[in-house]
Amino acid sequence: MRVLVACEFSGTVRRAFRALGHDAWSCDLLPAEDGDRRHIQGDIISVLGEQWRDDWELMIAHPPCTHLAASGARWWKDKVQEQLDALAFVQQLMNAPIHRICIENPISKISTVIRKPDQIIQPWQFGHGETKATCLWLKNLPPLQPTNIVKGRVNRVHRMSPSANRWKERSRTYAGIAQAMAEQLGRIAMQLERVA
Ligand SMILES: C[S@@+](CC[C@H](N)C(=O)[O-])C[C@H]1O[C@@H](n2cnc3c(N)ncnc32)[C@H](O)[C@@H]1O
Repeated sequence: MRVLVACEFSGTVRRAFRALGHDAWSCDLLPAEDGDRRHIQGDIISVLGEQWRDDWELMIAHPPCTHLAASGARWWKDKVQEQLDALAFVQQLMNAPIHRICIENPISKISTVIRKPDQIIQPWQFGHGETKATCLWLKNLPPLQPTNIVKGRVNRVHRMSPSANRWKERSRTYAGIAQAMAEQLGRIAMQLERVA
C-alpha cells in the first residue's frame, strides 16, 4: 500500500509501515532524522497537489500543534492569526484527495472549530507507561485498538526540562502507537480495498 506520513521528521511511522511491506514515505519541512531516502523534504501541501504522486492510498498526518494545543490555551488570545493559519492547514490535510486519512493531534482547538476527534488514545494503551491524550480524526478507517495496556502513568512530556530540542522530543510519535497504526490501519485499509 502507498502510505504518506505527513509532517514527520523522525521516520517512526514510516519505518513501522515499511517493516510490514508497505511503500511508505514521510514528508516534512525538515530532513529525515534517520537519513532515509524515502522522505520528501518539503511542504506537504505542495506534495498533495502534485498529480504524479496522487496514488497515495493512506495518509497519517501529524500537523504542528504549537498554536492549537489546549495546553497552551492561555496564549491563544495573542495568536489569533497563527491559530487560524494552523486550523486552515489541518483542514487542508483533512480535505486531501486520499481515500483513507488519520490525523493526529493533542486535545486542541481542532475539536471545537473543525470537529470532534473520532478517538482519543493514550501511550499507556500501546506499551508506554506514560500519559499524553492523543486525538485521532479518522476518514474511512476504524478506531485503533489498544495493543498492550501497561500500568505506568507518568507524564514524561510535562517533566521535560527546557532545551533546544524539547519540541522534537515532545512531538515524536510513540513507537507503540506507530506499530499499531501500521498493523491495524495498514491491514484494514488493504482488506477494505480488496472488498471494494
Ligand atoms: C508535531 S511535529 C510532528 C512530529 C512527528 N510526530 C514525528 O515523529 O516526526 C509537526 C511537524 O510538522 C512539520 N511541518 C510543519 N509545517 C509543514 C508543512 N507545511 N509541510 C510539511 N511538514 C510540516 C514540522 O517541521 C514538524 O516536524
